[in-house]
Amino acid sequence: MSISVDVLFQVTYGLYIVTAESEGKINGCLINTLCQVNSEPPTFQVILNKLNLTHEYIAKSGRFGVSILDQNVPFEFLGRFGFRSGRQTEKIDHTITLLRSPEGVPIVGNYALSYLSCEVFKTVDVDTHTLFIGKLLSAEPLSSGIPLTYTYYREVKKGKTARNAPTYVSLEKTPSTFQEASMAKYMCNVCGYVYDPALGDPDSGVAAGTPFESLPDTWVCPVCGVGKDQFSKM
Ligand SMILES: Cc1cc2nc3c(=O)[nH]c(=O)nc-3n(C[C@H](O)[C@H](O)[C@H](O)COP(=O)(O)O)c2cc1C
Repeated sequence: MSISVDVLFQVTYGLYIVTAESEGKINGCLINTLCQVNSEPPTFQVILNKLNLTHEYIAKSGRFGVSILDQNVPFEFLGRFGFRSGRQTEKIDHTITLLRSPEGVPIVGNYALSYLSCEVFKTVDVDTHTLFIGKLLSAEPLSSGIPLTYTYYREVKKGKTARNAPTYVSLEKTPSTFQEASMAKYMCNVCGYVYDPALGDPDSGVAAGTPFESLPDTWVCPVCGVGKDQFSKM
């Protein structure tokens, strides 16, 4: 059997925040596994790792919301939902614009172009993950912009995939193009974000051309928030 991970990286996805509420608590996480599976009635799937708190909330409540993200969403926001669990941190805090669908399903409004709200009618056990299939209850636009794709996240934003994502590929298996690293690049040991001095970190005010060694000690990984000491030279 031959499986080229380069082929797996050519499969295209969007990136979304999926949300759910259970016993008065709301949580959400970043996913790439939203897919429309039927049109009559409109039906959508999301695939969640069983370890994720959002999985627990969807399984308990039988409902989920989805925010379709704007391409211009900052890295910090993606890191909050894609690399941190609601088990350790309060993700839905005062910085989050929490909306409700007409059915009362919670929706994260920040950087959302539109939302979907779904009611689960079928689940499929896929070992470490569960595929939740939901009937669409409502869907409305919220703002205008270009939807964020996985390709844009990886190739333009230089983002990585979290370990709990179904599409996670361990670093040893990443394709050759992603292993081509100059000596000056540094990788975050926690989330895999690569600091490239040629690009800098404009979202954090670090100009292109700034060597890693010159970053201030207060600088943190724009994806997962850990300090410089958690980076390794590539
Ligand atoms: C680019 C990207 C895509 C992801 N896609 C998924 C996904 O489709 N399903 C999933 O369960 N987790 C996915 N994750 C991982 C979750 O977002 C991550 O484990 C999150 O911390 C879970 O938070 P929670 O425990 O609060 O639910 C993805 C992460 C990233 C960075």
